[in-house]
Order: sequence, then structure tokens, then C-alpha cells
Amino acid sequence: MRAKPFEAAIFDLDGVIVDTAKFHYNAWKRLAGELGFAFSERENEQLKGVSRMESLELLLLAGGITEVTPERKEALASRKMSGTRSSWQRLRPLMYCPVSANFLGHLRSCGIKTGIASASKNAPFILDQVNIRPLFDVVVDGNSIVRAKPDPEVFLQAARLISVAPAACFVFEDAAAGVEGAIRAGMRVVGIGDGRLLTRAHLTITSFEQLEPVFLMSHMGITGSTGWGDGPNGQ
Ligand code: BG6
Ligand code: MG
Repeated sequence: MRAKPFEAAIFDLDGVIVDTAKFHYNAWKRLAGELGFAFSERENEQLKGVSRMESLELLLLAGGITEVTPERKEALASRKMSGTRSSWQRLRPLMYCPVSANFLGHLRSCGIKTGIASASKNAPFILDQVNIRPLFDVVVDGNSIVRAKPDPEVFLQAARLISVAPAACFVFEDAAAGVEGAIRAGMRVVGIGDGRLLTRAHLTITSFEQLEPVFLMSHMGITGSTGWGDGPNGQ
């Protein structure tokens, strides 16, 4: 059966539109170090796309730290946050993936709606920092959702606000939790990063530079030999 035409592109923010995923990792790693344990990049994969407080829970679990009071958790989360923000301010010129402006402009000139679906409460701050808010028709972030990825809420809310059916949305994600959330939303998903970690994505690419050809293929409705699967797990 032919897929519904592509009407909207919904992007995760950290690690997709801006190169900030490493800042989150570095801040969690630093916090783990302060708490007395090492935290590897591999362990960090499960934190990607996950809300701040849920990430903290996973980090504490990885460090075998239990019985932490809610007040202490709040304090640890704020400490992590100030670490991330100071990196952003220092490295601001490196945050923006240079291809994205062209690609987003191309999408919009073809009449494709664009959106951000991010778990981060800092999404408005980041978009303002790099001055790319006008490139998106909608921004849904950690401030306006109740359930974090892998729940589909953030994606469904973005689709509803731009009046596009989920089946006509493509999602671009670097996190396994985000890929899962988009699939649960009934959307098609391009995973950006290591295909071995993003196994549920319909297609995985390794860098943002590859997005444009992917878009052209999908926009033209070409499937099969282009590398697009029929769906997660071949469904
Ligand atoms: C996601 C990141 O976009 O936002 C996670 O992938 C991060 O690493 C989460 O923890 C929450 O971000 P923030 O800015 O609200 O702490
Ligand atoms: Mg991400």
C-alpha cells in the first residue's frame, strides 16, 4: 500500500537540529563523577530524549545510588542544568548544524510544515540562542507536555497544532526513546546516528548531511530499493 504523502517534518532538537547532545552527556558525566562513579557514553544512550528528572533517575540507578530525597534530586538536577547551560553559552557558535537551515528552507519552500518535538525545557532558550525559531511552524517541548518520550505525546501535539495527520509526518530523531515515541504516534521515523542503537527507525542515517536526499526520496514516494523499510520490524 502506498504511504500517505509527506506533509510535515518534525524534528527532535538536541542532537538533531543543534549539536547539544554532547553537552547533556558531559554534564551528566560530571555529575556522576561528583557522586563518585563513572558514566559511559554507552550508558548515556538511554538518557537521550528522556526528560531531565527521568534522566537523573537513570543516572542514579547506574551509580547504584538509592534513597535520595526529592529535595536532593531537585538540587542534583539543577546542578546538572547549570553545567549544561554554561557549555551552551561558551560553545554557542558550534551548536548549529550548518546544513539544517538549507534543508529546512527547502522543506518549507515545498510546502512541508516543520516542527520541533523536544523533551527539553530549554528548547525555547536554545532556539533563541541560535536564532532559528522562525524556521519552525510549531515548537512543542518539555514545558508543554506531561509524558516524556517514549510516550508519543510530544509528537502528537506537534502534529495536531499544525493540523497534519500523524501518518503524513516524518520524524527525525537521534534517541531510541524518541524513535519509539514517534512510532507509537503512527509516524515515519528517520533515525540519525548509530543504526545498531536505533533499530526501530524506518531508516537510519549517520549524519544530518544525508537528510536532503532522504527527503527527496520520501517526498517523491519512492520506497524499497532506496533503503526505506516498510516499518519497524518489517511491519
Ligand atoms: C532532551 C535531551 O532533548 O532533553 C536529553 O535529549 C535531556 O538529554 C532532555 O535530558 C531534557 O532537557 P532539559 O534541557 O529540560 O534538561
Ligand atoms: Mg535528541
